[in-house]
Amino acid sequence: MRRFTEAYLRDTRRGLWEDREALAPLFRGEPERILDVGAGTGEFTRVLREESGGWVVSLDADASLLRAGAVETPIQGDATRLPIPDRTFDLAACQALLVNLPDPDRAIRELMRVSADRVAAVEPDNSAVTVESTVENEATLASRARAHYLDGLETDASLGADLGVRFERAGLREVAVTKHVHERRIEPPYSEAAMESARRKVTATRIDAHRETMLAGDLERADFDRLRDKWQAMGRAVAEQVQAGTYRRIERIPFYVAVGQIEH
Ligand SMILES: C[S@@+](CC[C@H](N)C(=O)[O-])C[C@H]1O[C@@H](n2cnc3c(N)ncnc32)[C@H](O)[C@@H]1O
Repeated sequence: MRRFTEAYLRDTRRGLWEDREALAPLFRGEPERILDVGAGTGEFTRVLREESGGWVVSLDADASLLRAGAVETPIQGDATRLPIPDRTFDLAACQALLVNLPDPDRAIRELMRVSADRVAAVEPDNSAVTVESTVENEATLASRARAHYLDGLETDASLGADLGVRFERAGLREVAVTKHVHERRIEPPYSEAAMESARRKVTATRIDAHRETMLAGDLERADFDRLRDKWQAMGRAVAEQVQAGTYRRIERIPFYVAVGQIEH
């Protein structure tokens, strides 16, 4: 199981639900008892609570994340074997969980089992992420590195795009899918997270952390080393522009929101 840090979750979720229009279908049935599976530090739990005004339980395999997020009702457990009786909740939901599971359909079946009414999932299509940058080759290198990383993963990181099909195949009815593009901008004045991201490019920290996964795909070691060199050179250009206050970057991550009705 891939481990996440509190800092990573806070940073990548910042601003994600400033605009909540795509989430509206989740709350049409006015759910009062909600389960957030793979809740991590509870970034989505908070949105679910604010929008529903209901009681939201946060479940994750990693108890340290639930503690770090100080969620109100934490449960440690496995999404593919939920320690919860049938039909306990009005809405069983998850965000960015299924893309991390080797058997996402099993987790969807578990969400269906513990809900008496509706099931929802919010998942990205990581293969369709785009980058715009003032550093000339950053977009190309980011796209190449991402493609090799996704190729080496054992999970389906582009799952968001066929979430609706998975829901229907699992037997959910009245499946509705909306799309929400999360824009992550780096521009002056730079946040501490933006400065750290520039430093990590210079030191190739992230690409090194993903080395084994990238090599598990069809990337050869020599090609990885060449990509890493280019990445660091790009990182130095980013650092120079940050110093000069001219660096700008926009990353766009498409998220899909699917909601379905349980057939009783
Ligand atoms: C990308 S994070 C998403 C966290 C949160 N939903 C959010 O959007 O900020 C994925 C989460 O799923 C959890 N997770 C991974 N596999 C799991 C499993 N089999 N059962 C329960 N949680 C799992 C991880 O610990 C992590 O907190």
